[in-house]
Amino acid sequence: MAFGRALFFDASLSADGKVSCASCHRPELGYADGRNVGQGVWGRKGTRNVPTLLDLEDHGVFNWDGRTATLEEQVLAPYTTTVEHGLSDLDELLDRVSENPAYGPLIDDAFGGEHFGARISESMIARGLVAFVRSLSGKRAAREDAAASSTQVLPVEVARGRALFVGPAGCATCHRIDETGTPTTDDEYHALGLELASMDEPLDAVLHRHQHHRGRGAGDAILGDRNLAALGRFNATGNPQDIGKFRTPSLRHAAATAPYFHDGGVTTLEEAVDLELYYRRNVAGSLPAISREERDDLISFIRWIGVERR
Ligand code: HEC
Ligand code: HEC
Repeated sequence: MAFGRALFFDASLSADGKVSCASCHRPELGYADGRNVGQGVWGRKGTRNVPTLLDLEDHGVFNWDGRTATLEEQVLAPYTTTVEHGLSDLDELLDRVSENPAYGPLIDDAFGGEHFGARISESMIARGLVAFVRSLSGKRAAREDAAASSTQVLPVEVARGRALFVGPAGCATCHRIDETGTPTTDDEYHALGLELASMDEPLDAVLHRHQHHRGRGAGDAILGDRNLAALGRFNATGNPQDIGKFRTPSLRHAAATAPYFHDGGVTTLEEAVDLELYYRRNVAGSLPAISREERDDLISFIRWIGVERR
């Protein structure tokens, strides 16, 4: 764990010596960064909002488009992404870790005899980071809340918001409530319908570019190209029906991780809920009218759960 923690906070493992995992996944901001989109070496901006790393065991796949299947793969990807750590390849990462004497004891501690005399490997770095990232949990607060709800000490507006969320407002069909009483994800991808309108070139041209970015290097291309990023789930599947779809985010830590949505285009939780209500009612047509008070109750419920109260 100490090895993974050291890697996570180490800015020397980036091209300009200033970016660590924690630059974007900041502990004090629920392991998100408070920006619209991630910002890596030399101030380069990405295309996607930084997700929290808390309670990642909820996830089967990673990123807003689910393009990465394992956490081991996901924790190495940022090092060679141009708009993240910006290293030229993973060998450069291995060199930088090997040359830093502070890592010797941490590696021995983490891997003992297995490592003795051997060169540090990609897999060791991945395992170190995965152990650290998996240790990040905000669940206790959520469990306490679930307990609170069963003994009926939930504030009245929170209880009303919860009832709406799972009932008439239909939010829980996608932000599924787990055993702790917290809205997480259905592991599915949905479109909010606003995405394609925001592209500033014809869809054809973007699809053409997409052909060249399949497979390895896709993450680098997606994070460096706003219109390509807007294709969403399509980038992972190549299925036209997936254009503009994104993974349902867990709302467990939503109160702490503004701004919102895959491109960070929405600043406050209030606006995020308003956009959802607007879309569900006027575009998807799946929602009855929700009053101002009911909308405030939904927000109270989302604020009540997750890291904010720790
Ligand atoms: C420049 C900002 C930035 C840096 C640096 C960065 N990340 Fe991320 N991280 C992101 C963004 C943005 C995403 C979402 C990308 C997407 O959906 O396409 C993400 C996604 C992830 C995910 C998937 C989370 C999920 O819910 O699917 C994990 C795990 C992760 N990062 C771990 C790390 C680790 C470990 C490091 C350091 C090696 C790191 N990140 C460095 C911005 C960053
Ligand atoms: C059909 C599935 C679906 C339903 C129903 C749904 N959501 Fe969502 N929600 C999503 C998806 C998918 C996203 C991410 C979309 C994106 O980034 O483009 C999202 C994003 C959000 C976000 C932003 C979270 C973040 O971390 O960025 C909030 C808040 C939210 N929804 C609240 C609600 C509320 C409240 C309701 C009920 C009125 C609701 N949602 C109904 C699928 C759904």
